[in-house]
Amino acid sequence: MKKCAIHIAAFLACILICCYRGFASDRVGLQHLRCEMLENPQGIDALHPRLSWQIISSGHNTVQTAYQVIVASSLEKLNKDEGDLWDSHKISSNQSIMVAYAGKALASRTACFWKVRVWTNTGQSQWGQSAFWSTGLLNASDWKAKWIGYDGGFPWDSVSKFSRLSARYFRKEFKSDKPIEKAVVYIVGLGHYELYVNGKAVGDEVLAETPTDYTKAVKYNTYDVTDDISQGDNVIGTVLGNGRFFTMRPKYKPQKIKEFGFPKMLLQLEITYNDGSKKVITSDDSWKFTGDGPIRSNNEYDGEEYDATKELTGWSTIGYDDSMWSTPQLVAAPGGRLEARMMEPIKIVRTIDPISIRPLRPGIWIMDMGQNMAGWVQMRVKGNHGDKVTLRYAETLQKDRELYVANLRDAKATDRYTLKGRGEEIWHPVFVFHGFRYVEITGYPGTPNVNDFVGQVVSDDMANIGQFETSDTLINRIYKNAWWGILSNYKGMPIDCPQRNERMPWLGDRATGSLGESFVFNNENLYAKWLDDIRDAQLSNGSIPDVAPAYWHYYSDNMTWPGTYILVADMLYGQFGDKAPVEKHYASMKKWLSYMGQKYLKNGLMTKDKYGDWCVPPESLELIHAKDPSRITDGTLIATAYYYRMLCLMQRFAEIVNKPADQKSFSETATATKEAFNQKFLNKNTGQYDNNTVTANLLPLYFGMVPPKYQKQVFNNIVNKILVAENGHISTGVIGTQWLMRGLTDYGRPDLAFHIANNSDYPSWGYMVKQGATTIWELWNGDTANPQMNSRNHVMLLGDLITWFYQGLAGIKAGDPGFKTIIMKPAIISGLDNVKASYQTPYGLVKSSWKKNKDQFEWKVTVPPNATATVYLPTKTLQGVRDGDTALSTEKEIKYAGLDKDKTKIVIGSGDYDFKIKY
Ligand code: BGC
Repeated sequence: MKKCAIHIAAFLACILICCYRGFASDRVGLQHLRCEMLENPQGIDALHPRLSWQIISSGHNTVQTAYQVIVASSLEKLNKDEGDLWDSHKISSNQSIMVAYAGKALASRTACFWKVRVWTNTGQSQWGQSAFWSTGLLNASDWKAKWIGYDGGFPWDSVSKFSRLSARYFRKEFKSDKPIEKAVVYIVGLGHYELYVNGKAVGDEVLAETPTDYTKAVKYNTYDVTDDISQGDNVIGTVLGNGRFFTMRPKYKPQKIKEFGFPKMLLQLEITYNDGSKKVITSDDSWKFTGDGPIRSNNEYDGEEYDATKELTGWSTIGYDDSMWSTPQLVAAPGGRLEARMMEPIKIVRTIDPISIRPLRPGIWIMDMGQNMAGWVQMRVKGNHGDKVTLRYAETLQKDRELYVANLRDAKATDRYTLKGRGEEIWHPVFVFHGFRYVEITGYPGTPNVNDFVGQVVSDDMANIGQFETSDTLINRIYKNAWWGILSNYKGMPIDCPQRNERMPWLGDRATGSLGESFVFNNENLYAKWLDDIRDAQLSNGSIPDVAPAYWHYYSDNMTWPGTYILVADMLYGQFGDKAPVEKHYASMKKWLSYMGQKYLKNGLMTKDKYGDWCVPPESLELIHAKDPSRITDGTLIATAYYYRMLCLMQRFAEIVNKPADQKSFSETATATKEAFNQKFLNKNTGQYDNNTVTANLLPLYFGMVPPKYQKQVFNNIVNKILVAENGHISTGVIGTQWLMRGLTDYGRPDLAFHIANNSDYPSWGYMVKQGATTIWELWNGDTANPQMNSRNHVMLLGDLITWFYQGLAGIKAGDPGFKTIIMKPAIISGLDNVKASYQTPYGLVKSSWKKNKDQFEWKVTVPPNATATVYLPTKTLQGVRDGDTALSTEKEIKYAGLDKDKTKIVIGSGDYDFKIKY
């Protein structure tokens, strides 16, 4: 009897487990709900925001078959499944990213709570967790606030070349006498701002305010301050810094440097009471204002000066005596469209402890952060009232261990702190950032200790969405250096460098780099915003500058820098499945191309170029640019090849926006361009283009301009040039390097790409590492070249290296836009034993992790739900290939898709795989 009971219990347990397994294996869930590619964004101004979600499924081959989205005006309604704003009902569709809201017209200040459920071929999900977005102020008439500021300098300010302007402090007391339901602040603070409510800083962003051409667009931010407002007396306070609004070099080269004026702000606090009534506090001349606070100067190039003896203790709390403060001026609006910020804010994204502090001379120390970074240091100090500590920042040291500042040009990169002298003081600047590894400390009372300092890394707060590691330690180090370089140069826009008197959003630096970066950071919103900056910088004749926002006036008309406009739109579509940039910018792109065509096309060739193959390794180590004509690629060749590339991309874009006539005309021009190009530059005897530089041959080959019968010869010329003339080294600059690794790989020499990538003698990325670099340099010969243009933290020489790491080595490449289909085709190279990578696609995580040894190739692959992958197995037959313990040939769900040279193609759905191929 007892035995029988045990058997029954075991049987029931077995059923339970089986049922559970059956349920769990098909279990479908949802995660990562995003609105306009942001998590729970506040105050956006998209009228049909696009919603995305990721499906979680423990089974294989999960595909969404339908979805239902509910958007409600309150959480209660959402919880009752009442979509009073939108109930999509069940929609048969596999679309799970960028589903446009199609509910009631959204008014300003609308709270939108949403959730989604999906049906898939392997089961149905529950309603996912709820998510949120709110609309901002959608109409100009919603703004009741007035622009306030002070259009002038104080006696302690200086508004000429090395400008010094103290920060501007504003405060306003007000009563809020009823219980509050909600309080929201809408603010623009130009150039940077800090916002306080009742003494508390709102949010944790730094360098707040998005950089734009403020005469074209001005971004406002929205904060929910419901919990910060008290019933009774309150105070709201702001501090304004210069940022890019009050330029770092005013009244200096006015034809080049754009000026916007003195700091100013616009603020609207809207309080909704429980009884439904409202109170609105706006910036106006009832506020109080002073420029005589502790931040005496803030200048992004030169640094920040903070005098703690001038602190306005309690200024942002109630009851502060502001009788000595003045009334702000009502000032003119900056002129640009008021728009919601729809990208990640800048934050302190990580901290670094210094590795050493060593005395240099009496009273002067050199601190080493161990890493070139962008941000600042926070200091802890104890001393006497009026003691002054000076921090000077630099990327490298001289031989005598003094700071090397020659490459900063005239940027002073110096912070100064005056102590109040009451116990321990902790400080860091707030309105500047520096690019540095070393800090010179002068005037520190006592002996500074590493524990008194911390490096705060300041960057756009975007998710790190890629991981990449190999068996090659040098490649790993280069990847790490690139990671630091990319992070250092995101500041609400992609900038060229964080240290010298430049820090400009140069277009050419990101032409292809943006694609590699998108494998590392979720840079979608940043680059979508940057395209708006570029469009805003376009002149009425169609010309697009080399720097946008156009803080520096560079309308030099070339193909390679402005062409970034088109390349980035293509990247956003390909990597993130975001079609909007193409649609939004199509007309301006077309206008630019036709402007360039009309003005500079002669006999079918694009005759205008400005930068050539910028920064090739020069013939002599002190040079910045090569002078030897054999190293220089002809400008018309580069411009015409890029023109052709742009025309091809525009053909695709024309198809996307459904303009067949345009498509035809781009195609015709492209054909004519190709013909003229080959006529002029191709030597039909040798298969060499022009003077046979790698770049001269590579551009037409990679862009598909070479007549088929010459392709092999052209490629051989590239290979010979690298192997013979360059002894296995890189010889390309910013232009050639954008296509080099992919070009070599696509045409069958990934081994040569690998050789170039893991070189450690000059010129190479590995050489930089060998010289102690912790980032990527502006010049291949950064250690020996003239300091005039020689940053140690630039990303443009990365070219397509990071793209190749992910696409070429890990084999993770988008097939259809946004990785709806994935092409997994790693190059298996002798000398590289394993690669481990993962990448967060819009659909979810894709993983590729392979390793090889003498007798086996093992490849672990993960494909996210609602996506499929074409996998190239390095074998000519599926015989003997296993997925875990199962023979692959018996797995019904895996589709054989033919042979591609020596690789077998299979198509797989979502799930985890463990392929094993015996040699
Ligand atoms: C910048 C580069 C930029 C170049 C073009 C340099 O000073 O640092 O990154 O693309 O100028 O002229």
